Amino acid sequence: MKPQSTVWRNPSRRTALKALALFASTLPTSALAALKTLLPAGKQQHDFITHNPQPLALETSRDAFGQGPITAIAQFFVRNNLPMPESEIVADRDRWSIQVKGCETSGQITLADLKTLETTTVASVLQCSGNGRAFFNHNPAGSPWGVGAAGCALWTGVKVSEVLSHFAGAKPQARFLTATGAESLPAGIDVASVGVERSVPLEKGVQDALLVWEMNGEPLPLIHGGPVRLLVPGYFGVNNVKWVKTLAAATDESVHAIQQSGYRLRPVGQAGNASHPSMYRMPVKSWINGPGGNGDRLYPGRQQVFGVAFSGERGVQHVDVSIDGGKRWQSATLYGPDLGPNAWRTFQISVDLTPGQYTLVSRATDTAGDTQPEHFSANQRGYGHNGWRDHGLSVQISTQPQAVESDRLEPSAPVTSQTAAPAMSQKSPLGMRLFTRSTQPACATCHTLEAADAQGVIGPNLDVLRPNAQRIRAALEQGVGAMPSYANQLSNAEINALIRFITRTQ
Ligand code: HEC
Repeated sequence: MKPQSTVWRNPSRRTALKALALFASTLPTSALAALKTLLPAGKQQHDFITHNPQPLALETSRDAFGQGPITAIAQFFVRNNLPMPESEIVADRDRWSIQVKGCETSGQITLADLKTLETTTVASVLQCSGNGRAFFNHNPAGSPWGVGAAGCALWTGVKVSEVLSHFAGAKPQARFLTATGAESLPAGIDVASVGVERSVPLEKGVQDALLVWEMNGEPLPLIHGGPVRLLVPGYFGVNNVKWVKTLAAATDESVHAIQQSGYRLRPVGQAGNASHPSMYRMPVKSWINGPGGNGDRLYPGRQQVFGVAFSGERGVQHVDVSIDGGKRWQSATLYGPDLGPNAWRTFQISVDLTPGQYTLVSRATDTAGDTQPEHFSANQRGYGHNGWRDHGLSVQISTQPQAVESDRLEPSAPVTSQTAAPAMSQKSPLGMRLFTRSTQPACATCHTLEAADAQGVIGPNLDVLRPNAQRIRAALEQGVGAMPSYANQLSNAEINALIRFITRTQ
């Protein structure tokens, strides 16, 4: 589908500008606000599913991961617990100062000072505890992440053990390493009930944790916790505190709610408390990213089915892949570099696919012999899902060979939907055509819809809004807000085709 998207993408950008000028005066203020909100750190709307604009929650789309072992910053997911600190804090990074407590000689240390200590780089997966929450049936609260609240990056900084040594070592009674983030809270808010402060066992902190200031060779972006964040390799995201302003060797775990009751694995219906296991080490997990990660149909023939597999602290021993939803398995090839026990491995299998529907699933086994379960039990907050079945990817192999399909990429003269309809039905799905090109103006000019590779930002993102048939029909027949009515240009059959196309991934 990629070549096709370039056919309309460039013209549509121009059209988008025109449409913007035309419609700006009538746009609802919420749509205007969305236009002005550019994503930070070079991120593009089409690589992400936005679960929450504030505090930001961006999920990497399956097809945006690529096939290499490192997730670029531009594609890296974002999950903030609170509105992030102002960008002034990265204006002069080296002056960022961290208070170190609980050591024999406690005090402040700036990033400039940290850089004088011995530097190290590790590759590590960062994964939100709630990654995979969308696959639970009990409707747990929180962003419904699919597979993309995870990424693997190279992190450069200094080992926490070096920092503690710089202050003559942790006091003997210390059992935890506690990091506090620099998010500011409005006056009157109880810091311990909402502030981000997490503790991990001191032993883990001393052995593996780092204070990092570079990500994939770039200064750590503000959105990812720069100037300095804690990295606890192999542990779930929440432990990797961003914008660290205090680091303490402590006798007890943090008293903050996010530590005491939050991020604990517990049965559905139970409130969290310190007796429930904290979201620490990430168990073995894998998923397939492609081909067809964007929902596009594929062509028959040879395909490389690829994905990622990891297990906190352990690394992966092998991965099995099935193209029939788990009936028959074959052993995948681990390719690319092994970047250590906390990084993910890229894997692939080569398969010949004939037309039809396939459910691609993967099942990883780590170096300790743990294998992903088929199902993962529900838990109150929808944490830690690593069941292989739910992470599967459905792909459709079209009945036509690639050469014939690509005929439809020939640009055609501008057409109205009425004249274009019969030709379209032979060559490409009618709904897709209507959405991307043959409506005036085309839906893709204003809307984002992954299945159409559309990135419009004037109207709502339809992957996020997920309107049902009734809502789409009403919008098309009557218009809504700044969106024109299409009543006099679409037949009932065309409206139905659009509805099928928009709702098919829901
Ligand atoms: C010129 C820009 C533009 C074009 C072109 C456009 N839309 Fe929209 N659309 C919008 C805006 C803006 C909204 C939000 C309106 C509001 O809520 O005030 C919207 C809303 C919608 C909604 C949600 C309605 C609701 O109930 O909230 C759907 C569904 C939708 N559009 C589908 C389409 C389809 C299908 C097409 C193509 C036939 C299309 N749009 C073309 C701008 C556009």
